[in-house]
Amino acid sequence: MDSAAHTRQRVSVYEVGPRDGLQNEAKTLPAADKVRLIHALMDAGITRIEATSFVHPKWIPQVADAAEVMAQVDRRPGVVFSALVPNLKGLERAVAAGVDEACVFLSVTEGHSKKNINKSVAEAVSTAIETAAAARKAGMRVRAYLSCVWGCPYQGVVTTNEVVAVAKQLLEIDMYQLALGDTIGVGVPSQTVEILQALYPYYPREKLGLHFHDTRGTALANALTGIQQGVTSIDSSIGGLGGCPYAPGAAGNLATEDLVYMLQGMGLETGVDLEKLVEAGELAQSLIGKKLTGKYLQAALGTREKRAAKIRAQS
Ligand code: HMG
Ligand code: MG
Repeated sequence: MDSAAHTRQRVSVYEVGPRDGLQNEAKTLPAADKVRLIHALMDAGITRIEATSFVHPKWIPQVADAAEVMAQVDRRPGVVFSALVPNLKGLERAVAAGVDEACVFLSVTEGHSKKNINKSVAEAVSTAIETAAAARKAGMRVRAYLSCVWGCPYQGVVTTNEVVAVAKQLLEIDMYQLALGDTIGVGVPSQTVEILQALYPYYPREKLGLHFHDTRGTALANALTGIQQGVTSIDSSIGGLGGCPYAPGAAGNLATEDLVYMLQGMGLETGVDLEKLVEAGELAQSLIGKKLTGKYLQAALGTREKRAAKIRAQS
């Protein structure tokens, strides 16, 4: 990509902190705090927010308050709220709660599919097709997630052929985006190139989104590689909120501030205010009660603290 192309290109940031981030934190926030965080994200100019998830609350207790969160958030023009919907029951709840965009989700691998949603991959494909069709009928936009694209916690290596085989089965879904998930954060850039190149004959680059967990520190490198390959939609989580259920203590999703800092520095348009994003990250950190892993956030807070200490010393 040449520098002229950089200045023209816009990258859409899809925020997953309130859902993927918080679902993986040990501390469950009250709905009112989740809503404060969503408002802070909107204040920073984020317009695509995965607000919650209508999965079974017994499976993921952190999102048991999904309807409450949706009832309390301000609706602002231009902001789209999405939520995970695993099946028709979840969709029914999401529609009642006023969600704009339904995210169906499934895995490439049998092991993860069974453990995550209690279904084989074939069953998950038909459930996703059925749920997505019902969501379209209800007037919602549809996004589909494919998990374990770069590797699986049960199977280990996942081949690009396996990814393509499942992705092809989703072609009949009337979705605006297929989000590819590095669920356990094992991917490296060369693999990202290989996967995207193999999918492009079926999914044009405008139809793909990338969702990286930063478990092993490769999320930003993978996101950059995706952008260089023409992808224009990247998922991230404020402050790097979250973790990996398969690697206790590991980092969460790619941090939104790290992504936005890099994109802005490269002259790519995001529509996001980085300073206000830091405020949202600071809020996330104080609500969750521990230092988050986002690097830009920690650098910004550290710089601010140093300045404050200097002023204190002078007065
Ligand atoms: P199941 O137990 O197989 O469900 O769970 P079932 O269809 O057999 O139904 C059992 C009971 O659950 C029934 O109630 C249903 O009505 C009820 P009963 O008749 O016994 O009273 N039920 C529900 N209740 C509320 N909401 C629902 C719902 N569905 C059924 N939606 C199910 C299957 C899919 C529901 C369950 O396994 C589940 O909720 N799993 C969610 C797991 C999850 O949320 N994982 C994390 C999200 S995926 C992810 O994070 C990856 C991603 O970030 C991308 C990446 O990183 O790769 C997206
Ligand atoms: Mg995820």
